[in-house]
Parts: sequence; C-alpha cells; structure tokens
Amino acid sequence: MRRAPEARLGILLSGRGSNFLALHGAVDDGRLPASIAVVVSNVAAAPGLARAQDLGLRAEAIPHEDFSSREAHEEAVLDVLADESVDWVCLAGYMRLLSARFVAGYRGRIVNIHPSLLPAFPGLDAQRQAWDYGVKVAGCTVHFVDEGLDSGPIVLQRAIGVADDDSEESLAGRILEQEHRAYPEALRRLLAESWELRGRRLIFDEREG
Ligand code: GRF
Repeated sequence: MRRAPEARLGILLSGRGSNFLALHGAVDDGRLPASIAVVVSNVAAAPGLARAQDLGLRAEAIPHEDFSSREAHEEAVLDVLADESVDWVCLAGYMRLLSARFVAGYRGRIVNIHPSLLPAFPGLDAQRQAWDYGVKVAGCTVHFVDEGLDSGPIVLQRAIGVADDDSEESLAGRILEQEHRAYPEALRRLLAESWELRGRRLIFDEREG
C-alpha cells in the first residue's frame, strides 16, 4: 500500500519521550517523510511533553484522571488527533491500553515500540522480564497496535546479544539505543515503501526499497 509522503504524525506518550525525540530527529534531518502534528500525553508532567513544547510543537496534556471513563478520555484524545488531521498515531511510551473503538478508528495506522523481541515479554518492564529470564538475545519490536497487549503484527525488530558482563541497566540501555534506531526506520519504511499485510506478516515490496 502506498502512503502519502508527508504523513501527519500524532505522538502519544506518558514519560521521558526519548523515542518521540528519536522520531523528531528523523523528521528534522529528512530521514522520515512526515511531520509531527501534535504530541499528546495523559501525564501532564511528562518530560516528553515539555520537550515537545520546547521544540515548538503542539503539545497537549490530557490527563486521564480528569475523565470519568476510558471512553471519555479517548474521545478527548481523538478530538485533538482529528483536529490536527493526524494520519498515523505513534505510541512512544504511552502507558494506556487503547480501546477497540480507538483502534478501529486508526486501524493499520497505529504503531508502538516495545523493548523486547515480541512475542516474548509483552507488558510492563519487558527488559527486566528478559533479564530475569536469562535470555541470550534481547531487543525491541515496532509493531502495529491492535486490541490486545503488544500483540499486533510486527513491522521491524532489532536484536542484540546479552553479554556475560551486562547488568539489567546496561542491557536496558543498549535496548533503548536500538529502539531509537528501529522506530524511525520502521516508520520510514511504512511511509515511503510499498507493503502489504499477509495475515500477520508484513511484507515490504523490495523493488521499492
Ligand atoms: C520505551 O522503552 C518503549 O519501548 C516503551 O516505553 C519506553 C518509553 O521510553 N514502550 P521513552 O519515553 O520513549 O524514553
């Protein structure tokens, strides 16, 4: 499927926002044919939201605790995304599960970055789960978002070896480095190349590569 070259991205985050900054850097230096239309956070004090403001982007705090239900909160988020004519939603450390209704509205156009080689270690503290399990290979996954927990089709994965002298912290740090490479690359390919989903398998048309 061919995507328009200048996609408008909506970033959802809850925390420090280093993956958002990696995407922003890629937009800025022309690696990613897109613009960041808006950054939304459910956490008003999220450092990533402050960085978005510093960068002159539209940055909206929409705290979930201000709303009586998940649906009402998502409605407010969707309103902002619609207001900015967002084409693609990029989750970047967004600590809320999206409802089926939200996912249906942007199906196939919501992506997430997860700090494990899915389907291993979905959910919270994936790096710690991998460390505790004693894996020899770790990494990160960019995937489409569906109604499940970190369960949508995989776009791209990057793997690293776990060294004997790694600590949980050093491993998490090296996974994060890979995340910052994987997310812009995955999105660039989705936006700039032809691809199709065959069942769960995302196939890029290599002739376009
Ligand atoms: C990253 O590890 C990402 O994979 C996970 O949440 C973390 C967010 O980090 N979904 P940051 O806010 O992008 O720095």
